[in-house]
Formats: sequence, C-alpha cells, structure tokens
Amino acid sequence: MKEIKIESILSVYDNLDELPADIVGLMDQAVLARENSYSPYSKFSVGAAILLDNNEIVLGSNQENASYPSGLCAERTAIYYAGSQYPKAKILKMAIIAGSRIRQTVTPIPPCGACRQAIAEYEVKQDSPIEIYFMGETGKVVKSHSLANLLPLVFDKSVL
Ligand code: THU
Repeated sequence: MKEIKIESILSVYDNLDELPADIVGLMDQAVLARENSYSPYSKFSVGAAILLDNNEIVLGSNQENASYPSGLCAERTAIYYAGSQYPKAKILKMAIIAGSRIRQTVTPIPPCGACRQAIAEYEVKQDSPIEIYFMGETGKVVKSHSLANLLPLVFDKSVL
C-alpha cells in the first residue's frame, strides 16, 4: 500500500480590485448574467461569464424548475451554450458570482461537483486549461488556473 497526496493550488485575492481589468470585466458580465437568474425556490442566484478564444463572451445563470432536479446551474447553462453556439472555440476563462437573496454571501462560492464534471469535459476536449474565478457577492475572489485543479481524479473519456 502507498498513500498519494493530492494538492491543489488556488490564488485567493482580497477583492476584485486586485485582479487585472479583463477579469474584472468578465466578472462584471457574470454580475449581469446573474440578474437573469430564475431561482424562486432556492433564492440563490448565480451568474457565469465565459470568455472564448474568438473573443465572444457567453453568459449563463441558474434556471430552476418546480420539478427541482430539472433546473440547471449557471455554469452548465453557460458552458453548454458555449459548446452549442461555438463548438470550435476554445474556452479560456470563466467567472462565477453567486449569492443568496436571503442573507449576504461574502465567501467565494465554488462550482458544484456536477458543474466541475461538465467543465472538465470541455477542458479535456480542447486540451487546454480553463481558468476559473469565483466569488460571493463581495469580498474574496478565488482563481484556479484550470478546472483540473478543482477536480482531481477526473472521470473522462480516457477510461471509456
Ligand atoms: N447553483 C449554481 O448555479 N451553480 C453551482 O455551482 C451551485 C448551485 C444553483 C443551483 C440552484 O439553482 C441554486 O444554485 C441553489 O442550489
């Protein structure tokens, strides 16, 4: 038996102002996307903005449903839109902003496991990293230089 250690290195910024202008701009787009969140059940709104290598920005927000599992997270809404509209473009960066409408969310909100799996698919498909930035409504911003960093031991096409 041997043990393996899995390490992920993330960058944590005190606030958005510490990030370069292009990331601030992408996060601004995520804020706009979040305004279209349809989340009457959880009252938790999430916005995602994706920058593609063709300079297009694709937005997504969480869309809920009275049949709860039929809803979809912001990140998957955005990434599936990108994959559908621009199948040949590479996904460079994704900015995510999330928070509750019931209480203030001041901690960075990472993408859920299902969204990580969905984003990982595109990272594998394009064979280049997708930078991920996520935050709450205000405060710290976390950067991961790739999705793989957030999802060690990924299940991907190599095992099929
Ligand atoms: N949600 C997202 O949009 N992204 C995540 O990564 C986590 C959760 C949404 C789904 C649901 O509409 C609400 O947040 C509460 O779970």
